[in-house]
Amino acid sequence: MPLVPPYIESLRPYEAGRGIDEVKREYGLTSVAKLASNENPLGSSPLALREITRHLDRLNLYTNGGLDLRRMLAEKFGVKTENVIAGSGSEGIMSNIIRAFLCDEDEVLTTEAAFIGFQVLAKSRGVKYRTVPYRDWHYDLPALAREINDHTKIVYLANPNNPTGTIFSKREFDEFYKHVPERVLIILDEAYFEYAKDNPRYPDSMHYRYDNVITLRTFSKIYGLAGIRIGYGFAHEDLIANLLKVKLPFEPSTLAQAAGIGALSDKEFLHRSLELNARGLELFAKALPQMGYRAVPSEANFVMLVLPGESEAAQFTTALLKEGVIIRPLKAFGLPQCVRISTGTDAENQRCLNAIEKISGAAENISALKEA
Ligand SMILES: Cc1ncc(COP(=O)(O)O)c(C=O)c1O
Repeated sequence: MPLVPPYIESLRPYEAGRGIDEVKREYGLTSVAKLASNENPLGSSPLALREITRHLDRLNLYTNGGLDLRRMLAEKFGVKTENVIAGSGSEGIMSNIIRAFLCDEDEVLTTEAAFIGFQVLAKSRGVKYRTVPYRDWHYDLPALAREINDHTKIVYLANPNNPTGTIFSKREFDEFYKHVPERVLIILDEAYFEYAKDNPRYPDSMHYRYDNVITLRTFSKIYGLAGIRIGYGFAHEDLIANLLKVKLPFEPSTLAQAAGIGALSDKEFLHRSLELNARGLELFAKALPQMGYRAVPSEANFVMLVLPGESEAAQFTTALLKEGVIIRPLKAFGLPQCVRISTGTDAENQRCLNAIEKISGAAENISALKEA
């Protein structure tokens, strides 16, 4: 038996978006717009920061494992504390789901090029990982339903989806759900829930709780807390009870829990972040097609561009880096011909568009970067 199991040996580790300081150094730039990781360009929720500060003198004490935040979330969403889990980001909870529920012979089913964090976690468990292709950059829920077999244990759905930014509707999900056996656990990853919740087609999964559905949400995105690692999940109390057994007992950290508690009441920051994002999406949706690019309509805080092929996507990404704009190439997700651009401040969005215009104009054959 090898020391390292083959499924770990062959695993490609999660590659985070490039860092600001690294790009500044490499390209000799004084300022950089990082539009690569779907972060909040306004910084962090001020109420979260205030709550973090209030807890700085308690770091000698162990945490209560997120209990205060669980209670608060239960009250806010009208469920029991036993239905709620808090963890080190929604990825921390995903990792616990994989540990708690997957056995060697189980299979995971999701879309092609799903959120890379989930891909890495699921593949690291060494179980069979099956996918179905997108249909027009949306989850193909009927095809996913057809692919469920006796071994399927987890179906992973992100809504809105990263990296495409698309959503499936309540009607589509209800139809899909009819075909899912009770023994199959559906992970509904709603990391971008706040950006989509006002769309009447969007199925806020809190409105219909099923025993085999776990909803995951995060403070990383709209509340600007990606660096502190705090996320939460809702599910049937038996599911949560089993997740609590495998969770590290002292996660989330004291400061992460405090941040979540502060953020939950920060309506002003939420509102400002939503408005800024809506302006950014509108600008990208208008300007990118005008420049000849195919941008997939998005319900999240980023847009995906479909370029003619892998080399064009790589060329596009590098050319923008030289202009001080970091975007995310999607090769590692499994979409080598695509790139993803997060919305930034108004100035960053404009800078990005100016840079795209410049590099498109400078390309030997302008149409080379654009989809035919
Ligand atoms: C779909 C999706 N789920 C989960 C996450 C991770 O969130 P967290 O920071 O809460 O672990 C991300 C982050 O990019 C994401 O895009």
